Amino acid sequence: MNPMLRNIPFPLQTVFYRGLTQSLKHVGKVLSFVIRPPEMFTGPGASLLLCDAIAGTGVQRVLIVTDAVLVKLGLVEPLRARLVELGVSVAVYDGVLPDPRVEQIEEGLAVLQQHRGDSVLAIGGGSAIDCAKVIAARATNDKPVSEMTGLFKVTNAPLPIFCVPTTAGTGSEVSVGAVVSDPAQRRKLPVIDHKLVPQMAALDGLLMTGLPPAVTAATGMDALTHAVEAYISRIAIPESDRYALEAVSLIMRHLPRVMANGKDVESRQLMSWAAYRAGMALNRGGLGYVHGIAHNFGGYYHTPHGWANAIVLPYVLEYSKPECTDRLARLARASGLATGGESDAVLADKFIERVRALKRECGIPEGLADLRAEDIPAIAAAALDEVHFTYAVPRYMDQATCEALVRKMLV
Ligand SMILES: NC(=O)c1ccc[n+]([C@@H]2O[C@H](COP(=O)([O-])OP(=O)(O)OC[C@H]3O[C@@H](n4cnc5c(N)ncnc54)[C@H](O)[C@@H]3O)[C@@H](O)[C@H]2O)c1
Ligand SMILES: [Fe+2]
Repeated sequence: MNPMLRNIPFPLQTVFYRGLTQSLKHVGKVLSFVIRPPEMFTGPGASLLLCDAIAGTGVQRVLIVTDAVLVKLGLVEPLRARLVELGVSVAVYDGVLPDPRVEQIEEGLAVLQQHRGDSVLAIGGGSAIDCAKVIAARATNDKPVSEMTGLFKVTNAPLPIFCVPTTAGTGSEVSVGAVVSDPAQRRKLPVIDHKLVPQMAALDGLLMTGLPPAVTAATGMDALTHAVEAYISRIAIPESDRYALEAVSLIMRHLPRVMANGKDVESRQLMSWAAYRAGMALNRGGLGYVHGIAHNFGGYYHTPHGWANAIVLPYVLEYSKPECTDRLARLARASGLATGGESDAVLADKFIERVRALKRECGIPEGLADLRAEDIPAIAAAALDEVHFTYAVPRYMDQATCEALVRKMLV
């Protein structure tokens, strides 16, 4: 925490945090004129259409950034072959691991430079997309990744970024962010800059039918968390509200379906659309304590990002409820939970209960088995540091409250 704030009573600190994060609303307004959302291709087979469009932009030397699992599953080869057929020279970096680190970004950058690449195409989940985004930024900015973490530190425009998400979760295909893991400091560091928004992306449900149930569950809950945190944020605007409500409504209907039948292409397609819409909502509304705590579970225990969010989400909603009952009630209505005549308080409880039930249906536990009591003070402090300076949460919590909340997740 900023040493100047440490000795100020917490209620006064929150006045400062609120002012700081409210100013992001104005930054967001300015950026909405600057951010060009990616050109989207959607539907089964859209990833091949994206390849045609990439060739049409005039780029000549593409680096595909992906992971070895996806290469082995055969998801990468058709896209590589299509680009080559269209006269584009392609190199592949397939060293991305879940929660990419600086080492992988530097490895990928070396392959890009050797290939004299002029653009990157991410094929994969949030890990591959984030890795590709930062490789593209490193290629045009002569500074280490550590100097790009935080808000708006990417000075020069990155190389053109194209992407094909193979999970329906992070929304990284449209978001202004990329997350880099730093295992030495047990932290996950965000690089947040509007220049990281990809140029084009394809949402292709056919690529997601082999996603294992645990990854389907975690990534779906990540998308739900983006939509919910953006919706209850104090800097939400009508546009982000629209995207968030659409995403929540789709996820509540289609996540159970893809959990029951992973080969349901229509529901896979709608989940990828929901994740994309949730990404658009978070670009404007931002995130909150769920992500602040979950990032630390990832940093400390390597808990998959969406899995960590799913565990934390109901606890934070319960805590936030007094300051956002009406918003939670509207989320309940969007989830089809209203039967008529219920008060907002009843509907808010119904929504939180539905989130808990969805978690159970997805096989996600109430608590985190890896969580160690002795880590909780540091986890809470790091989460508050991230949240208070970045997100416009509806109800603030101090260190002791955050520790107590995280302690509930001990098993
Ligand atoms: N940039 C953002 O806005 C943003 C937002 C949220 C999370 N993130 C970051 O994204 C990362 C997590 O991404 P993720 O949740 O998409 O998971 P991931 O990319 O780490 O992938 C998880 C696993 O699923 C496998 N996989 C991916 N697609 C598959 C498919 N179609 N079939 C079979 N297996 C497949 C991968 O090989 C990997 O082993 C974290 O580092 C997180 O911090 C970024
Ligand atoms: Fe997330």
